[in-house]
Amino acid sequence: MAKQKTVFFCQECGFESSKWMGQCPGCRQWNTFVEEKTTRQTGSQGARSKEAPKPVALSAIEMTCEERFTSGFPELDHVLGGGIVSGSLVLVGGDPGIGKSTLLLQVCQSLSRERIDVLYISGEESLQQIKLRAKRIGAFSDSLTLLCETNLETIDEVIRREKPQVAVIDSIQTVYSEAITSSPGSVSQVREATGAFMQLAKGLGIMFFLVGHVTKEGVVAGPRVLEHMVDTVLYFEGDRHASYRILRSVKNRFGSTNEIGVFEMGEQGLSEVENPSEFMLSGKPKEASGCVTACSMEGTRPILLEVQALVCRSSFGIPRRTAAGTDTNRVNLLMAVLEKRLHLRLGECDAYVNIAGGMKVNEPALDLAIVLAIISSYKDRCVDEKTVFFGEIGLSGEVRAVSMAKQRIQEAQRLGFTGCVLPDVSLDSIKTDGGIHLLGVRNVQEAVQKLL
Ligand code: TYD
Ligand code: MG
Repeated sequence: MAKQKTVFFCQECGFESSKWMGQCPGCRQWNTFVEEKTTRQTGSQGARSKEAPKPVALSAIEMTCEERFTSGFPELDHVLGGGIVSGSLVLVGGDPGIGKSTLLLQVCQSLSRERIDVLYISGEESLQQIKLRAKRIGAFSDSLTLLCETNLETIDEVIRREKPQVAVIDSIQTVYSEAITSSPGSVSQVREATGAFMQLAKGLGIMFFLVGHVTKEGVVAGPRVLEHMVDTVLYFEGDRHASYRILRSVKNRFGSTNEIGVFEMGEQGLSEVENPSEFMLSGKPKEASGCVTACSMEGTRPILLEVQALVCRSSFGIPRRTAAGTDTNRVNLLMAVLEKRLHLRLGECDAYVNIAGGMKVNEPALDLAIVLAIISSYKDRCVDEKTVFFGEIGLSGEVRAVSMAKQRIQEAQRLGFTGCVLPDVSLDSIKTDGGIHLLGVRNVQEAVQKLL
């Protein structure tokens, strides 16, 4: 017997409630509850005809090598943890117009060239519009098939009939099931659709890419539940004004998270940026005060960045402090440390800190570079431009060790830097071939004494 029921869902975390609430008890967000009508199958208790399975000992499970194949994009393979795993569900989130559809169409293109059967299902664009985009990207092989459909039952039927190896759903928010009365994109619709694709993925060994929209706050729209259901969550992000895009993994059942892939949007779609450090440092001014090169880690990958600071006298009572690409509170904290430990009169100054290139970095290893950029601008003296800096700064002004110092030094050396300033405590554990001069510093006072 089917029974109609009204329930309320939190749009943020998927919390379910029988009555409306102002604040969600699950995630503490305000005004996130929406009403949805669901049909519940009653009497499911009686439908237990199958025998319950027996638990298995861990040692008795045979290892089958997880089947991976390359997407044709080494950057994407890297983010996925070494290639596409068949039977997995990958959610690709990102702002509108960032290039999700373009990326996935390009992946389809390279997969279909390898004679892998790919089905691209779009609920947002017509076949003509997809063709138009495909023309910019290049030639396609016949093993890519397209479908414009939003009905879940139809999509399910087509996938079961065609049995592609890879399927793309663009986007999950447009798919709707007739069995549920609420509108497409709502929590229960998205949950139902993802559940159906999950069954297809695990049952038939089909790999799914799901495109998900992102809200203003930068999380996949509506259902956070979606993130719990899929195997891998990738975010496609980037500055609207810059041409490069970063693909970031925030959840990965088959690999490590926090890996990034860097792409550049051009006339013919997206291309990979093999050398992100070079890309980030392009256009770095020579002999300019307030410019310092830092080394940050993105997963296992070191990236060199330019940290810029501008410190000038404030003409108002309350000085302005802004930070673009990094945490403003962190910058405020570092300035307080400088004020106290170095007796700099920063309270009378406006300070603007910027990570050039538009990347967003919140790693504490950037502290030393930020501090030196601020002092360099304050004193109007340049820091050696062939030197890279990294190290975390504590509240008493000490420079603390950071992880993966060796990889950071290697990256600096690879890009032709001749010096590296790092925490003194890390110095012992590092051996270099002498191609780069290493200078260990214990605290900010020492760093300023030796460098500025
Ligand atoms: P799109 O892939 O449609 O974004 P999403 O699916 O994430 O909403 O993004 C396309 C954007 O990229 C659009 O603004 C145009 C631009 N673009 C290029 O600059 N070059 C190209 O070759 C293509 C295909 C798109
Ligand atoms: Mg799109």
